Amino acid sequence: MDLGISGRRALVCGASSGLGRAIAEALAAEGVNVLMVARGRERLEAVAGAMNEESPGAVEWLAADVANGTDRAAILKAANSPDILVTNAGGPPVGDYRKLDRKDWLAALEGNMLSAIELINGSLDAMIDRAFGRILNITSHMVKSPVAHLSLSNGARAGLTGFVAGVARDVMAHGVTINNLLPGQFSTPRLQVIHENFAKSTGRTVENIQTEFLRQIPANRFGRPEEFGATAAFLCSLHAGFITGQNILLDGGQYPGLL
Ligand SMILES: NC(=O)c1ccc[n+]([C@@H]2O[C@H](COP(=O)([O-])OP(=O)(O)OC[C@H]3O[C@@H](n4cnc5c(N)ncnc54)[C@H](OP(=O)(O)O)[C@@H]3O)[C@@H](O)[C@H]2O)c1
Repeated sequence: MDLGISGRRALVCGASSGLGRAIAEALAAEGVNVLMVARGRERLEAVAGAMNEESPGAVEWLAADVANGTDRAAILKAANSPDILVTNAGGPPVGDYRKLDRKDWLAALEGNMLSAIELINGSLDAMIDRAFGRILNITSHMVKSPVAHLSLSNGARAGLTGFVAGVARDVMAHGVTINNLLPGQFSTPRLQVIHENFAKSTGRTVENIQTEFLRQIPANRFGRPEEFGATAAFLCSLHAGFITGQNILLDGGQYPGLL
């Protein structure tokens, strides 16, 4: 299927690893010109270099922190009014919600809520003028089934979800869609770290933890980042122009609810 987005320009945040990288790769494979953002310069440069060898889309990169206001301004300037925006950052720390202080909360809101809102607001008007825009926010399956030790993530991502719900309807008539992608458990470096931390804090082996986590997933496997990338590329396509304001779960059937 031709996605109809070859030659479009995308800004993909958190793009040097995992799910963001998979999205950047899927878009570049469709001929989209991609600006990849992450904090670490070395990995970005290596990943972008490999993509430039393999993909029809031109790939550029910028080392910047989406949780930093000055960096966000630089990102928006470098992206120069993208047609496609993917917001993403590392998840906030896990832990006992009683021990979180105001500083922890402000950092989580900055990284996983306000950063995305500011990038969306900085990109929307040009998308509206062009009558085409696709915005995706990587959030989490925990938005639909929050757990206590991920309180920072639950709170910040719920705030972003609420913002998107209103704005998506406001801009839909102008050809701009905004959706949230909710990853379940995907095989990325971050998931490996989560398993290792869990193993350390419980005195169990990583294999033991992985077996337990796998039991929660009807698909009996973790998600593959390329599956996430392909779904995102479709949602950025011309064909997805009637899908907006949605929270799309990719979790191998883990969420048991009807809606
Ligand atoms: N993988 C899963 O199973 C899963 C499940 C639920 C939710 N999620 C959420 O999905 C998001 C992506 O997860 P992932 O598994 O793809 O993680 P990952 O493999 O660790 O990749 C995270 C990417 O984001 C970049 N990044 C992190 N913080 C950033 C910041 N402040 N500014 C700019 N770039 C930043 C990282 O590069 P630098 O470190 O160099 O900046 C890296 O490129 C996270 O928010 C995570 O909590 C993932």
